Parts: sequence; C-alpha cells; structure tokens
Amino acid sequence: MGTNALGLKGFLTVSILISLALNLGLSHSESLQIDSGLDVASSNFSSSNDTQELRRSDFPKDFIFGVATSAYQVEGAVGEGGRGTTIWDTFTNTPGKISDNTTAAVTADQYHHYEADVELIKELNMDAYRFSIAWSRIIPGIVPYVTLYHWDLPQPLEGNFGGWVNPEIVKHFTYFADTCFATFGDRVKHWITFNEPTQFCVNGYGTGLHAPGRTSDRTLSSSGNSSTEPYLAAHNVLIAHATVADIYRSNYKHQEGRIGFTIDCDWTEPLSDSEEDKKATERRRAFQLGWWLDPIFFGDYPSLMRQYVGDRLPQFTEAERSLLNNSLDFVGLNHYTTRWVTSQPLPLNPAQSNPLMDQGVLTTGVDEFNNGTLPIGDALKDTRRVNYYRDYIISMHQAIQNGADVRAYMAWSLLDNFEWAVGFTSRFGLYYVDYTTQKRYAKDSAKWFSNFLQYEDAYSEDRRH
Ligand SMILES: *[C@@H]1O[C@H](CO)[C@@H](O)[C@H](O)[C@H]1NC(C)=O
Ligand SMILES: *[C@@H]1O[C@H](CO)[C@@H](O)[C@H](O)[C@H]1NC(C)=O
Ligand SMILES: *[C@@H]1O[C@H](CO)[C@@H](O)[C@H](O)[C@H]1NC(C)=O
Ligand SMILES: *[C@@H]1O[C@H](CO)[C@@H](O)[C@H](O)[C@H]1NC(C)=O
Ligand SMILES: *[C@@H]1O[C@H](CO)[C@@H](O)[C@H](O)[C@H]1NC(C)=O
Ligand SMILES: *[C@@H]1O[C@H](CO)[C@@H](O)[C@H](O)[C@H]1NC(C)=O
Repeated sequence: MGTNALGLKGFLTVSILISLALNLGLSHSESLQIDSGLDVASSNFSSSNDTQELRRSDFPKDFIFGVATSAYQVEGAVGEGGRGTTIWDTFTNTPGKISDNTTAAVTADQYHHYEADVELIKELNMDAYRFSIAWSRIIPGIVPYVTLYHWDLPQPLEGNFGGWVNPEIVKHFTYFADTCFATFGDRVKHWITFNEPTQFCVNGYGTGLHAPGRTSDRTLSSSGNSSTEPYLAAHNVLIAHATVADIYRSNYKHQEGRIGFTIDCDWTEPLSDSEEDKKATERRRAFQLGWWLDPIFFGDYPSLMRQYVGDRLPQFTEAERSLLNNSLDFVGLNHYTTRWVTSQPLPLNPAQSNPLMDQGVLTTGVDEFNNGTLPIGDALKDTRRVNYYRDYIISMHQAIQNGADVRAYMAWSLLDNFEWAVGFTSRFGLYYVDYTTQKRYAKDSAKWFSNFLQYEDAYSEDRRH
C-alpha cells in the first residue's frame, strides 16, 4: 500500500498504465484485473465528468466487479483451528514495529463472521470476492478470486531458514499451492499466486518496515542485507510463481481455471521537463512494473535494472526462462494513485543500498491520513472515497472504450482492517468495523456501490444466467 499520493485525473493514470501493460507485451488473450482503493486520497479529486451517469450496464456483460481483503488483515482468530504462527504474528508482537502497537490477533474477526460478510458482499451487488488463503491455516453465490500469498509466511519458514531469500522456499510454496489446487480447485477458477511482491520483498528484506523486518539497518534488525536480499527474494518469488503456474496447467487443466499474479504499480510522471527526471521516471517504472513483467514477457529483468543493480541482480537459467515464459493468464494491477518522480544521486557504496536507493529516484505527492479514530458518524460519510471510486470507474470505463482489455475490478477493501505497519490507524473499508462489537456499518461508499451495481431490467436477466 502506498503512502504518497497526488491527484492526476484517474483517466490518465488508468489508461496510460494499461497501455503500458499492453505495450509490455500482454497479448490479446491476456487481461488485466485492477484493484484500487483510497489509501491516501489524491489531493484534489473531482469527478472527471460530473454529469456523466455511468451504470453497470455500460460495462461488458461478463465484466466482474468485486471487493478484496487478505487473510491476516481481516481474519483474526490467530490461535484457532490449528493455525500456525506467521511472520506477521512475530513482527506485530515485537515492540516498536507497528505504529499504534496493535496486532491482527482479532482485527475484523472474519473467521467468525464470514457468513455475514458474504451477505455484505451481496448487499453491495458485487459479483466476486478476492481474499487470501492463510498458508499457516490450511483450510461461497459470490465468485471466489483467491490469493495464495498475501504476506503471511509461516514463521518456521523464516527463522533460520531465511524465508523468501532461500531458494528452497520454492519447493515449500509449491507444496502449499498444490494442496490448495487439489482441495479448492473444483470451486476456485481464479488463482493469484502473489499479492504485491514489491512490497514484501522491498519492505520485508530491504527497509525492514514489514515482516520479517530484515534490513542492513542494525538499529532495526540484527540481521539482513538490504542491498542483496530484496533481489534474491524477488527472484525466488518469480521462480515460485512460474513453477506453480506450470503445475496448475499440467496437473489441473481439467479445472479450467486461470492463474496470474497481482503487482502494485502507481502511475508516474516526471516532476520537471528535465531529461534527468524523465529518465528517473523510466527507472521507476522498470523497478516497479518491469521487475515482475519483463522476466515473463521478455525473458530477463529490465536492462535498466541490470545497469543500476549490477551483479546483485540474479541471473535466470535457460530452464527458468522457459518456465517463466507465458506463465500468466492475467495480470492483477493494484493501482492507487499517481506520483511525481525526480532524479536522485545514487549511493556511493552499493553495498549500503536498497532497491529504493538503487533506482536513484524520489517520488513525491500529497499524503492524506486515512483517520482510523474518526467518530463513526464522520467515518460513514466518506464522500472522498465515493468520489475516488466513481472517478476511477468512469476512467476505467473510458480506457475499456479505448481498447484496454480489462475484465474485472476489485475494490480495496470490503472492511476496515489491520493495515500492516500502521495497524488500525487507517480505515480502508466500504464497511466501517466497530472493533469492540465487531458490528459492520455501511459507509456512503458501500451505499454508492450497491446502487451503482444494481442489476437493471433485461440486462440483469441475461447476466444472472
Ligand atoms: C487543490 O485545490 C485547492 C483549491 O482549488 C488549491 O488551493 C490547492 O493548491 C490544490 N492542491 C493541489 C495539490 O493541487
Ligand atoms: C460528460 O458526459 C456526457 C454524458 O455522457 C457527455 O455527453 C459529455 O461529452 C461528457 N463531457 C466530457 C467533458 O467528457
Ligand atoms: C508504542 O510503543 C512504544 C514503545 O515500544 C511507545 O514508545 C509508543 O508511544 C507506543 N505508541 C502508541 C501509539 O501507543
Ligand atoms: C551485503 O552484501 C554485500 C555483498 O555481499 C556486502 O558487500 C555488504 O557488506 C553486505 N552488507 C551487510 C550489511 O551485511
Ligand atoms: C516464449 O515462448 C514462445 C513460444 O514457444 C517463443 O516464441 C518466445 O520467443 C518465448 N519468449 C521468450 C521471452 O523466451
Ligand atoms: C482523527 O480524528 C480525531 C477525531 O475527530 C481527531 O481528534 C484527530 O485529530 C484526527 N487525527 C488526524 C491526524 O487528523
């Protein structure tokens, strides 16, 4: 989840980003699934066309609208049902790691409220629910979009093992994924192997701000190497994805599902007209989007990354290249906002660097605090969130009209929940959660979606069959 934001009109951001993805080599049969949500609001978000009344029926008949969450952020019940400990349990229980000193031991308690929560999704008139299966827990009229890895690595696979930095992780993740395909694959037709790998590779092994908190900064962690581990972790994530996609296609073809991953990439614009800033913007895109898509579509990391990271960036073997080739049926895009990019000097000593510093860029924007302690009366009147979603969806519709192959849109998030390193200081939900009673209250944004997604006349008859 990003922390900076600024307001370019949604149309620009979505359509350019999609064209970029298309230009990167997504062929016609591949498609995009977009997530967005109001983390930090863009500063001056006004409707791109206030008079335009877009309706569900303006989208293609098989277009999917859904809403998203992740296991650790909403489930709670960490000690129940034989669940094992994860790196986020360990991290949140370490003093000083979470800004409000909370953990997700209970959070929105979806473990005990899932049936009622599915009712909320129906109330929103959504088609789909994107959630994640807790690896450490291995465990319905709404279509499930399942994320296999949404950051909650079983603790025993971190510890002395080394987590994502150890190539052996591929074998373990493959076993987990295989178990999920075999167990749930009769009902789940959309699999997302990884959610926002940049975030857990860079923050988990570079800045140390996310679990497992490894970094070269010895004031934060006694172990870790920010200049090498994020690249090793990312490499293993890519191989793990390709291995699992191969197994899914070889052994579970009869399930007739689709497999992809979800990367986070905000749109970027150079802060000035200078060549330096324009080049910095290209580097930023290479490090955010190319890092994950280039190995799959072009067989190697972006040459800009090779140039800036040097031999700290791992090499692919021929076997790995061919495994990676065509390993995505769709790309999920978590897209929140747009940032300005300006060029920065590179660190003098690469051994003291991390992937953010290696890019030689600085991004700026306007932060808006998503106030977690706002009284319920105010929190339910989330006009900015309503405007954000409406503008985003209008822009996405225009992009589709312009030829972008977008098949689904998932709003982040169904419920207020535990926002990783910032704990409960942020409320992303369409539904407000009273954490004392676990009652859910519809915000204006929930009512807006429910209204926008209402089935209409003949169209609905058609669509429901
Ligand atoms: C937002 O709009 C206000 C009022 O028009 C203006 O004063 C402010 O500078 C704008 N902020 C940004 C970041 O564009
Ligand atoms: C706004 O929407 C209306 C109705 O769809 C359309 O006629 C008009 O051209 C749009 N204006 C702009 C500026 O996009
Ligand atoms: C969280 O705990 C730290 C000590 O570990 C303390 O300094 C800080 O004030 C606490 N923050 C909150 C919001 O309670
Ligand atoms: C990280 O690894 C590099 C390359 O092996 C080494 O030069 C550097 O000293 C290491 N940094 C730390 C903090 O261990
Ligand atoms: C991927 O495989 C296809 C078909 O076998 C081949 O034409 C293409 O060159 C390969 N792409 C890469 C990047 O290796
Ligand atoms: C959040 O809302 C509360 C209650 O209205 C207010 O006291 C507090 O100052 C707000 N925090 C921020 C950072 O705006």
